[in-house]
Amino acid sequence: MIRHLLSAADLDAGTATMVLDTAAEMAALADREVKKLPTLRGRTVVNLFYEDSTRTRISFEAAAKRLSADVINFSAKGSSVSKGESLKDTALTLQAMGADAVVIRHSASGAPHRLANWIDGTVVNAGDGTHEHPTQALLDAYTMRSRLGRLAGLNVAIVGDVLHSRVARSNVLLLHTLGAKVTLIAPPTLLPVGVDAWPAETSYHLDSVLPDADVVMMLRVQRERMDQAYFPSAREYSRRYGLDVARMRRLPEHAIVMHPGPMNRGMEITPEVADSPRSTIVEQVANGVSVRMAVLYLLLGGKA
Ligand code: NCD
Repeated sequence: MIRHLLSAADLDAGTATMVLDTAAEMAALADREVKKLPTLRGRTVVNLFYEDSTRTRISFEAAAKRLSADVINFSAKGSSVSKGESLKDTALTLQAMGADAVVIRHSASGAPHRLANWIDGTVVNAGDGTHEHPTQALLDAYTMRSRLGRLAGLNVAIVGDVLHSRVARSNVLLLHTLGAKVTLIAPPTLLPVGVDAWPAETSYHLDSVLPDADVVMMLRVQRERMDQAYFPSAREYSRRYGLDVARMRRLPEHAIVMHPGPMNRGMEITPEVADSPRSTIVEQVANGVSVRMAVLYLLLGGKA
């Protein structure tokens, strides 16, 4: 097993499949009255969050607790980070406190990689800037596999603000490893430079991609990372790249609709679509806990 999970590219097909299979075992635990395993008793997991998060942070906390680890939640707000302490000094403090694993979210792409050089424990990337979010890709793959029965050969459409999305990048890498075919759909201004080198197709036309899609994954328009106008207006964006009921009808009967959350309801996805039976949005959150349990368990020395 690898020591850190920094990028979805750290996982080969065998390892990724082992994580998904282990997550399925972990999910069985969620149906029990006592949702706890003694596996990580006496180990310490630190959640080091420099950026806002609801789902990911709670999910990692629940996962570590269900494995009986001691959990320390660190948020940059209210810590010495606001006094100007560097990531390195914070890392050395965590190290001195005996952290076995550090789960880090940071606005700088590459921060988890730096951290991995400074501490002895395991580092899990919970989202770094616009770069990667590997556990999100794993929970998305898990959700696709459990709804559609397979990953190899699936047509997955990832739609919207690809430019600012670490979710998109990690999904492209992992889905490619697992044999799915990914198409990125966005206005030209919201596709990153160098996207041609990604193992994915690109398109500017959502309507033409939908009839062949098994999965359509909508991305949040990340206004907080936008320093200029990337499209004329919210209305124009929704008209071309938003998923409403009329568009959803173009999908094959079996296709599912995903979104990593948080959603801009009415912008990239309408409430009717988000709350429809095809939507897996709430399931993705539940699956996130099982997948993160599997990741922590395997990285900290458990066997499949
Ligand atoms: C995503 C993130 O933070 O990268 N959300 C998440 O982890 N569930 C996507 C987003 O912020 O739009």
